[in-house]
Amino acid sequence: MTLKLNDRYLQKFIRPDEYTCIQGAVNVAHDALINKSGAGSDFLGWTSLPDDYDREEFARIKAAAQKIRSSCDVFIVIGIGGSYLGARAVIEFLCSQQYNALNGSLPDIYYAGCNISAASMQELLTICEGKDVCINVISKSGTTTEPAIAFRVFRALLENKYGKDGAKERIFVTTDRCRGTLKSFSDDAGYETFVVPDDVGGRFSVLTAVGLLPIAVAGIDIDALMQGASDARHDYASPDICQNDCYRYAAIRNILYRKGKVTEILVGYETYAQMFNEWWKQLYGESEGKDGKGIFPASVIFSTDLHSLGQFIQDGTKNQFETVISVENSGASFEIPADPANVDGLNFLSGMQLDEVKKTAMIGTLLAHEDGGVPNIVLELADRSAHSLGYLIYFFELACAISGYILGVNPFDQPGVEAYKKNMFALLGKPGYEQQKAELQARLGAN
Ligand code: PA5
Repeated sequence: MTLKLNDRYLQKFIRPDEYTCIQGAVNVAHDALINKSGAGSDFLGWTSLPDDYDREEFARIKAAAQKIRSSCDVFIVIGIGGSYLGARAVIEFLCSQQYNALNGSLPDIYYAGCNISAASMQELLTICEGKDVCINVISKSGTTTEPAIAFRVFRALLENKYGKDGAKERIFVTTDRCRGTLKSFSDDAGYETFVVPDDVGGRFSVLTAVGLLPIAVAGIDIDALMQGASDARHDYASPDICQNDCYRYAAIRNILYRKGKVTEILVGYETYAQMFNEWWKQLYGESEGKDGKGIFPASVIFSTDLHSLGQFIQDGTKNQFETVISVENSGASFEIPADPANVDGLNFLSGMQLDEVKKTAMIGTLLAHEDGGVPNIVLELADRSAHSLGYLIYFFELACAISGYILGVNPFDQPGVEAYKKNMFALLGKPGYEQQKAELQARLGAN
């Protein structure tokens, strides 16, 4: 089994009849998703993607990845939010957080356009000095400020270094199929383009070219990733939460939310899961946090964060639950050495596998947090393979849609993201925002 939900550490917090009670709401959510009758149903392309993806484009992604691998030292991925997090999450989960130090002959991968930091931009430009560079700009709208600024900068860098003709061999664009300025600009310039499907929102797009091109550049088996997602799609077809762990997870979240558990902490025990946590936070935060509702998605990496946030989780405000991802077979082996002096008194661990200590730390923490009044969902993932990760990605996407429908929100829009942008554009003097600028300046002056 690729993924198993273990509810042993929930038993003190959820009675059996509560599962029975929520099954009706799960059925309604399932029907809305299957019949495409729920809110945001124009954005359900991700549901069938693992089986119905564009084979011709998939082959072009592999060919482009090969071309990038053979023609650069540094590959810059330009994008933000859903146009960035999935690729980085998969690359770090399957390769390493230290990818650039351990990638052998593959290009180093850096991320631009995911912040508004001059320091970060300067650093990247320094890194590119004297190196061969390729870029992949990823933006569905083509007009998002952060990646648009980064694209200007790196396009100029490539054109100065290789000339316009040379640069066009090194610029790869992932954007809307036909709408938007980035598509027409890229066609005119002769860049190779890939598609963000109309019916797939940014945070659900990791299994499109958005994620797959950078993931393939990192040498990851994208066929296995898609196969994992496809297997999950077929395994999670039943609405019955006694048979469907994905829907059971969505149901548990809502049962706990209704009991005042308004924060969910995704727990990883491996440093390589850190960016996966970030991807998950966007998926759930942007999908559910609306209409004054939603579970706040937080994340930790244990045991690191047991030494910082462990105190709060154990003893602090009782408004949270944890979802622990346990990678059952990590594929890594490290034996703890003996120390003849036994300075630290830890010789009872000599010869033991570090993974064994990790698993024991996890069980100890689960029991302690259960005692501390914190419910824990445990997701046991078979291993750290591309197949298992594809499976886990689909599990979380599907659960997110079902959970959002149970909560009574549209899981596929993000109206709240616009508020800061409007203020920023007005204050920066974007044409058309004059009235708003005057209002904001009056407010600032009044303060
Ligand atoms: O999930 C989303 O919709 C967002 O995070 C977007 O992906 C993000 O804002 C970037 O948008 P775009 O791809 O249009 O540049």
